[in-house]
Amino acid sequence: MNKWFLINGAAVGVLVWALLTANSYGWHTLFGGLGALLIFYNWTRHAVFTTIRESPSRQQKIRFANLSKKVIPYHRWTGTTAVIIVLFHGWLVIERYGFYWQYPKFTIGLIAGLTIIAVATFGWLRLYWPSRKKRMFHLYLAMALFFLVVLHLVL
Ligand code: HEM
Ligand code: HEM
Repeated sequence: MNKWFLINGAAVGVLVWALLTANSYGWHTLFGGLGALLIFYNWTRHAVFTTIRESPSRQQKIRFANLSKKVIPYHRWTGTTAVIIVLFHGWLVIERYGFYWQYPKFTIGLIAGLTIIAVATFGWLRLYWPSRKKRMFHLYLAMALFFLVVLHLVL
């Protein structure tokens, strides 16, 4: 089992904990939770790719490559849906509390919100005009997004 699967599993654990101990509940909580789940789901592509690259077992490489092929057509849509859901979450939060940027949870949420827009932009760009640079931007921004979301949940 690749360590990234464990890290992703731990992130889902952090999400459940954050939802159980939230300050308040409302539509913004539901949208935030769904957005986080979709982001974690999309980020598991990294765990799958890493397993394919690093696994010594040819059998496992083939199994994961086949699995990967099956998910490719959905990846772009789960990612784009996550952007829309997160924008709703941000909008509902601002409607509820105002633009409360001194609050670290808000600030990190805002940065995560901007990052997911950049991740999706590079995702679409690399789909139509692939290049190594765009692939790396998509990957590193997605990694930054993953840790920003975990931080946003912990705060
Ligand atoms: C990648 C995007 C984001 C994800 C996955 C996400 C996820 C979540 C989740 C699951 C919660 C509820 C659990 C908790 O309170 O810890 C939450 C709360 C919160 N989020 Fe986000 N969020 C994101 C972006 C944003 C943005 C863009 C903003 C601000 C514009 C924001 C501001 C907040 C605030 C202030 C709370 C606390 C609400 C409360 O205490 O009732 N988040 N977020
Ligand atoms: C929550 C948002 C997203 C996350 C966390 C995410 C993450 C990832 C990761 C980790 C990879 C594998 C990186 C590699 O080693 O090359 C990948 C591949 C890719 N992503 Fe995304 N992505 C997101 C949204 C999107 C969106 C909206 C698109 C729109 C088209 C997209 C398009 C692609 C494409 C074309 C690939 C390469 C083909 C594939 O293997 O699926 N991604 N993404």
